[in-house]
Amino acid sequence: MEAIINGRRMHYLERGRGDVLVLVHGFPLDATLWLDQLEALADLRRVVAVDLRGCGGSEAVTGAGLAMELLASDLDHLADHLGAERIDLAGLSMGGYVALAFAELFGHRLRSLALLNTKAIGDDEEAKASRDFLAQTAVGSGRALLGAEMHASLLGPGASITARARLRTMVERTPYETLLACLIGMRDRSDRTHVLGSLAVPTLVVTGAEDSLAPEETAREMAEAIPHGDLVVIPGVGHLTPIEAPEAVSTALRSHLVRVDGVRRGDPPPR
Ligand code: MLT
Repeated sequence: MEAIINGRRMHYLERGRGDVLVLVHGFPLDATLWLDQLEALADLRRVVAVDLRGCGGSEAVTGAGLAMELLASDLDHLADHLGAERIDLAGLSMGGYVALAFAELFGHRLRSLALLNTKAIGDDEEAKASRDFLAQTAVGSGRALLGAEMHASLLGPGASITARARLRTMVERTPYETLLACLIGMRDRSDRTHVLGSLAVPTLVVTGAEDSLAPEETAREMAEAIPHGDLVVIPGVGHLTPIEAPEAVSTALRSHLVRVDGVRRGDPPPR
């Protein structure tokens, strides 16, 4: 599906009907990260997996930094386009940075939030320098080198050949301008730790036990800082849980959405 969002052509994948769940991918990925979850959750929600600006089938960008606030504003306009006053929102890694920016700027539109393999803190000086190094490497030497770096940090050691194939496809079809724009946007993003304590909606935090970018300890601290936070740690997998452990992620999101619906109905909390 395609729509003009904030004056740009946005591509997204859609399954199911009813209340809208928006899925936001990480870097350097696209909406196909969520193919399994699109199918698995379509009986519960109208599931919409977006291609962020410059990613997948969405309109190209120039390479100037993509601010997380701008990407969040795209989601706000997408919700308008979909006719959804409120949305369930799930973001992985960079998608989580966008989801936290959305929560801060457009929190009144949230029905629930899921933060997968992500963190609330901003980049320190070392992380900023490594963004610049990665940008130089990608643009200077090509995506093959970037791919090798990313494969090592994004996937757990036991990742299946299917997960590896899916990651390679996503990395290889992401334009250099997008790689650059996302790296600058992530480098310059704000610390959003303060947002966690103000989240007023049911929020799920998910990570993989082998995730070195968003480790279990970070996920636990986030979940504890969120008033209605739940934590799921998926054993044996790394950073890209939706493709490394598709069923476990779908199950975690399903339980979360069922809980959200229970809260809406006023059911007593589970013991
Ligand atoms: C991602 O998966 O979106 C990125 O690895 C996030 C990051 O580099 O901070």
